[in-house]
Amino acid sequence: MKCYESITEKGTSWTVVSPIVFTYKVTETQNLLDPSNDTLLLGHITDLQQLEAIKQSNKPIKRFVVVDQEVYKIYGPKLTEYLEANNVLYKILALPTTEENKSMKMALKILEEVNNFSIDRRTEPIIAIGGGVCLDIVGLAASLYRRRTPYIRVPTTLLSYIDASVGAKTGVNFANCKNKLGAYIPPAAAFLDLSFIQTVPRRHISNGLAEMLKMALMKHKGLFELLETHGRMLLDTNFQADNSVYGRNCLQVASQATRIAIVTMLEELSPNLWEDDLNRLVDFGHLISPALEMKVLPSLLHGEAVNIDMSYMVYVSKESGLLTEDDKQRIISCMVNMELPVWHEACTMELIQKSLQERLKHSGGLVRMPLPVGLGEAEISNDTSCEILHRAYSKWCDELNVSSDSNCDS
Ligand SMILES: NC(=O)c1ccc[n+]([C@@H]2O[C@H](COP(=O)([O-])OP(=O)(O)OC[C@H]3O[C@@H](n4cnc5c(N)ncnc54)[C@H](O)[C@@H]3O)[C@@H](O)[C@H]2O)c1
Ligand SMILES: [Zn+2]
Repeated sequence: MKCYESITEKGTSWTVVSPIVFTYKVTETQNLLDPSNDTLLLGHITDLQQLEAIKQSNKPIKRFVVVDQEVYKIYGPKLTEYLEANNVLYKILALPTTEENKSMKMALKILEEVNNFSIDRRTEPIIAIGGGVCLDIVGLAASLYRRRTPYIRVPTTLLSYIDASVGAKTGVNFANCKNKLGAYIPPAAAFLDLSFIQTVPRRHISNGLAEMLKMALMKHKGLFELLETHGRMLLDTNFQADNSVYGRNCLQVASQATRIAIVTMLEELSPNLWEDDLNRLVDFGHLISPALEMKVLPSLLHGEAVNIDMSYMVYVSKESGLLTEDDKQRIISCMVNMELPVWHEACTMELIQKSLQERLKHSGGLVRMPLPVGLGEAEISNDTSCEILHRAYSKWCDELNVSSDSNCDS
């Protein structure tokens, strides 16, 4: 930290420059709730001496655990058994962490319970187990408690596995806007165990596949080809080993696809943890979707709204001459194959224009629209014309609105 003093006729001022370093681990593991696996309790500790001291000491470990209620119904007994077997002093708080409940009210509820249980802010991280909603709320609550209590993320949905668990963002919805209150404070660690995904409902697997496709289209042709070839299999098998129709390479494809998605996501996020650089490829699919998602809540899941946004942008790319007709068709087929919606009546030209104007306001005066260029590469466009946006919209409606006679109000 540096401190500079300057004295002028108006008075003295001190400027403090204090670079903040965050270190956090994203660890893939198996059998996270097997009593002999100590990752959940100790995996976040990087100091070997400290780790040894804890292992030698006979003082019980203390942990506050917040779990999504639905996850608790399935994994509650296993979790309790794990904590008992490891002689942990624990409190498990199971909560209905749904998108509609993603609010400050729920964060405060968690904080009250944390306060009653009383934890040591330096050594007893709060553990969050659930989907993106649970991880986001608990992350925010922990960041507020005593100004910053460490927390641990255990994602249990595909979407949170490859997206919400690897970054630094926390948040709750506020004033009818998604994630309007939040912080950029990463977890002490994220522990990823693919086996949780086996109980995730099919629609929520598709939902996660949308965010994977986002990374594929922006940055990784190989990932796109994996999803194109095996997307349906991943959906049918919940990213698990499967001995029936698909044979044994199921799990291999599942780990390869999740691994690539996580690595490409980390590459994008880590140099820009606080999102100071506004040119972000991870924003693909996230320009129009927030307004769409909130407009029709709860009928579209996050990844579904993202996919509809991406589908339209693919048409914008094609009309801008960045994508061939053949590549466009391949992308749309891949989406349909993964049972993702590619069009929605609530996604009107008016909503698109409003969202892009909103984007201009919060993005330093440039629209910064990520667009796929071929497969697995992208560019950020600031000068896509109204004419292209309209033409893309008409084609998008004509070709993908199969539900009714197309009537596009462009
Ligand atoms: N912080 C970030 O960087 C980031 C990134 C992407 C998304 N998000 C946020 O994540 C949220 C979406 O996350 P999500 O899709 O995980 O939704 P979610 O947390 O609502 O979970 C989806 C559903 O699956 C259930 N569920 C969770 N795990 C299960 C399991 N193993 N078996 C059976 N059911 C299970 C939940 O009860 C819920 O009904 C959004 O609010 C979004 O804003 C945050
Ligand atoms: Zn997203």
